[in-house]
Amino acid sequence: MNISARARGIELSVTLALDARAKALMAAGRDLVNMAVGEPDFAAPPEVQGAAIERVRSGNVRYTAAAGTPELRAALARHLEATRGGPWTANQVVVCHSAKHALSGAILALFQEGDEVLVPLPAWVSYDEILRIAGARPVHVPGRADLGPDLAAVAAAITPRTRGILLNSPCNPTGYVWSKGELAALVELAEAKDLVILSDEIYRRLVYGERPFASPLEVSPAARARTVIIDGASKAFAMTGYRIGFAAGPEPVIDAIARLHSQLTGSPNAISQSAYLAALQQEPPQVEEMRLTYQRRRDLLLDGLRRLGLPTPAAQGAFYAFPNVSAHLNGAPDSGPFCERLLEQEGVVLVPGSAFGAPHHVRLSYALGEDRLQEALVRLERFLTTQ
Ligand SMILES: Cc1ncc(COP(=O)(O)O)c(C=O)c1O
Repeated sequence: MNISARARGIELSVTLALDARAKALMAAGRDLVNMAVGEPDFAAPPEVQGAAIERVRSGNVRYTAAAGTPELRAALARHLEATRGGPWTANQVVVCHSAKHALSGAILALFQEGDEVLVPLPAWVSYDEILRIAGARPVHVPGRADLGPDLAAVAAAITPRTRGILLNSPCNPTGYVWSKGELAALVELAEAKDLVILSDEIYRRLVYGERPFASPLEVSPAARARTVIIDGASKAFAMTGYRIGFAAGPEPVIDAIARLHSQLTGSPNAISQSAYLAALQQEPPQVEEMRLTYQRRRDLLLDGLRRLGLPTPAAQGAFYAFPNVSAHLNGAPDSGPFCERLLEQEGVVLVPGSAFGAPHHVRLSYALGEDRLQEALVRLERFLTTQ
């Protein structure tokens, strides 16, 4: 069969492919420390599990409205009022199968052939590919030396074809949290150049005290007219496999996403909608416990990496460390061969930084128990001394 040019041009998600490879090796008996995938290692809170089971047992597991149940949309509107400032209505929120689904819906609704969309680097692997599926052109904007956003470079990258910018704070892979000042400068630029801000806030809850999370919506009422929020249950509530998330923003955009999804994917999973509703309504105490655990792990890992002599930016949020390994690349242009050798010799699975537009770095997820993090550091030290 002939594969369409659209599909031929799309890469398999590097992180998911690496995770699949690691799981196959582990199934074959290899002792690996898998730090590749961005997935909480906790179970979803009991309230979430209970709501999902109850929904199944109720027998009411039918299609819901394509934009989500009215209860969940209303709960998300209240959640937005509480966390980003209000007012919000249910019509300004569309429930999606995941944050990824919300993001692809928003990108398909907003951008088209010939549009340019700015992607400040380093950036999550999927932005480029989803933009390409929509026919838009991702325009990479290099970050500062500390891997934070370079707003002068963002301004310089704008052309008459630029339609939007992808914002991700806290950032995957760096853990960088944008300051209110940086957000204000971004909003000002977006207003001057009539750009949409797609704000991926999936790691919003996972910040560790140095800098509070802020959304561009908090900058000014005008920011709201040009911002679409992407968020979901995967990271904050340890609900990755439930596949549930949402997009929120001006009603015409939300309406367009809902129409697209009604044709492409239909209603989101009814069971997961009940589970997400329970998470939002009951605010399980495990969420804060998980955050504190990630914070301890982050401190342990950043400290360990720096002791190994790897320059590592201060990650203020999410659950990744993103050290620079350029001193150990043996002349290679990127960290791909470094990650391959590390996997072969020591069984530690990392993601090469080129997947995020920073080829001299590697990404380590610290969504792993402290004993596994210690083990990873021991193996990494042994590996580095042989390079
Ligand atoms: C920055 C970012 N956005 C979105 C997602 C997707 O989350 P979901 O599981 O809801 O699709 C991820 C998952 O790794 C992510 O890192």
